[in-house]
Amino acid sequence: MEINKIAVIGAGNMGHQIALSAVLSGFQVTCIDTNADILNKAIQFADNYLTERVNKGKLTSEAANQARTNLAFVPTVEQAVAEADLVIEAIIEKLAVKRKLFAQVDKLCPAHTILATNSSYIVSSKIADATTRPDKVCNMHFFNPALVMKLVEVVKGPHVSDETVESVMHVAKKMGKIPVLLHKEIYGFLVNRLLQVTRQEALKLLDMGVASFEDIDTAAMNGLGYPMGPFQLLDLTGVDLAYHVGMEKYRESGDPADRPSPTVVEKFTKGEWGKKVGKGFYDYE
Ligand code: NAI
Repeated sequence: MEINKIAVIGAGNMGHQIALSAVLSGFQVTCIDTNADILNKAIQFADNYLTERVNKGKLTSEAANQARTNLAFVPTVEQAVAEADLVIEAIIEKLAVKRKLFAQVDKLCPAHTILATNSSYIVSSKIADATTRPDKVCNMHFFNPALVMKLVEVVKGPHVSDETVESVMHVAKKMGKIPVLLHKEIYGFLVNRLLQVTRQEALKLLDMGVASFEDIDTAAMNGLGYPMGPFQLLDLTGVDLAYHVGMEKYRESGDPADRPSPTVVEKFTKGEWGKKVGKGFYDYE
């Protein structure tokens, strides 16, 4: 199926950059957030980003103007999805909230529209039955920062049609990304399963008082060759996200080992959610 119009729901950490990536690849994009401040921040970011690219000679001013014309920030889901061929959801990592949104979007968009979730951990089969089109509901998982990171994980759950997967893989490639296809649904997909092992151990070492978070980051970067340490990455992806992921997993499994670590709970409660709020493990003011 030919995809021309993409709606991105949620203009937070991920959504605004997914929207910009898409528009810079020639798609027509609408982006919506229910929080007016976040939406304004996203508009400002887009304007600054495009101006900077032009100033650096990476983009012609015609291309930047075209991108800005093709990118509409709108305040309601109705406006965002009315004509979309593909909807990419990037809202809070809570299953109940995502299910409610997918049920709403299902009623508002055309019958052919594919509904993808950018969730870090939640497989689409947990959401698909909230819609009348389970064969068109799948995972399309971008990485942070979405304008820079190339990988996209596409997951073919048992309910997803081949056509849906083909279309989503095609969109990812057109966006200049490198998509990988998971033939089975699995919690955390590929990358977050690998990441979780390092992160959990890093938090455990910190909670045990073995080393400071700075030294654990230094060890990961200089001993393992990681481009950034686990705590720098936590600040980038959001301590709030790590908290919600842990709580969702714990709610489901009932296993206390799945709870977010004491440090994550403490940071979450203090509002020290990372780079986006100016403070996490590190200070960004
Ligand atoms: P975020 O908290 O920065 O942004 C989420 C945005 O969604 C907020 O601005 C919020 O106002 C908005 N929102 C909430 N409910 C909404 C609704 N019903 N309609 C419209 N907007 C709504 O979250 P972030 O970090 O961007 O994560 C979003 C999704 O992307 C999550 O599912 C997360 O697992 C996934 N993800 C996050 C990554 C990261 O590094 N932060 C990486 C890859 C995926």
